[in-house]
Amino acid sequence: MRLAGKTAVITGAASGMGAAETEMFALEGARVYACDIQDEPGRELVEQIRSHGGNATYHHLDVTDESAWAELAATIRSTDSGDLQVLVNNAGIQVRHGLMDMAMEDLDRILSVNLKGPMFGMRACAPLMRDSGGGSIINIGSLAGMMGHPIAAYTASKWALRGVSKTAAMEFANWGIRVNTIHPGLVNTPLIAGTPSYDAMESMTPMGRAAAADEFARVALFLASDDSSFMTGVDVPVDGGFEAVSSYRRVWQTVQGIA
Ligand SMILES: NC(=O)c1ccc[n+]([C@@H]2O[C@H](COP(=O)([O-])OP(=O)(O)OC[C@H]3O[C@@H](n4cnc5c(N)ncnc54)[C@H](O)[C@@H]3O)[C@@H](O)[C@H]2O)c1
Repeated sequence: MRLAGKTAVITGAASGMGAAETEMFALEGARVYACDIQDEPGRELVEQIRSHGGNATYHHLDVTDESAWAELAATIRSTDSGDLQVLVNNAGIQVRHGLMDMAMEDLDRILSVNLKGPMFGMRACAPLMRDSGGGSIINIGSLAGMMGHPIAAYTASKWALRGVSKTAAMEFANWGIRVNTIHPGLVNTPLIAGTPSYDAMESMTPMGRAAAADEFARVALFLASDDSSFMTGVDVPVDGGFEAVSSYRRVWQTVQGIA
């Protein structure tokens, strides 16, 4: 019960890693506000969690709408006396285009969901967390925010999120709020289903496979819990070694004659 007594907001909770985090956080004793725009799967997930004794409620929240964030904060104030310790900005979208074939409306949409969404979330939730005695914000980045990546708009959004997370870590440290960013590599979720680069990415991953969503959720759990009480402003890749060693691994394999 590593999150006993904590209240958490998780965005993009209806699918993939957000669903795995919602389930795991509730099982570890958190009271979870599961937020998404996919209402049906979001409600089903919450019902399932509650049938196992977990404490979760579903909330329709479009992360791009700052007034919806204000409404969520007001709900937390009225139903939980404003008690909030954890925010996971997990909701994210992708549109698979490079710089030259990207439509500008796609750039705007991706920046709205992947960058403005977490910024609005932090602005709405940090004051509640401050008044609750501190907490932990976890922003979900990507390898696309750690290195050059073929999807231009997505890369822009994740590099920017990584930077603004460090600004937030600086700004909120006096409030006892930690802000860290997790950067997934290849994780089996609907987001990457049918991605043309899946096989290449899997073969370039030193661990030779994609992660399951709950392998990722365990890292989010660590950052949400007091086990990580002195970590803030940090980038945590969860990528089977892709960012650290995949290029040199190919060189090494060639030298060894095993590529
Ligand atoms: N799956 C991967 O391999 C991978 C790799 C790197 C980064 N990521 C990042 O991980 C996060 C989770 O991705 P996933 O793979 O679980 O994807 P997913 O598509 O399974 O889930 C994303 C969820 O976000 C929700 N969402 C989208 N727009 C929203 C909005 N405006 N408001 C609220 N919710 C919204 C969707 O409805 C969906 O439930 C994303 O930020 C993604 O960029 C994923």
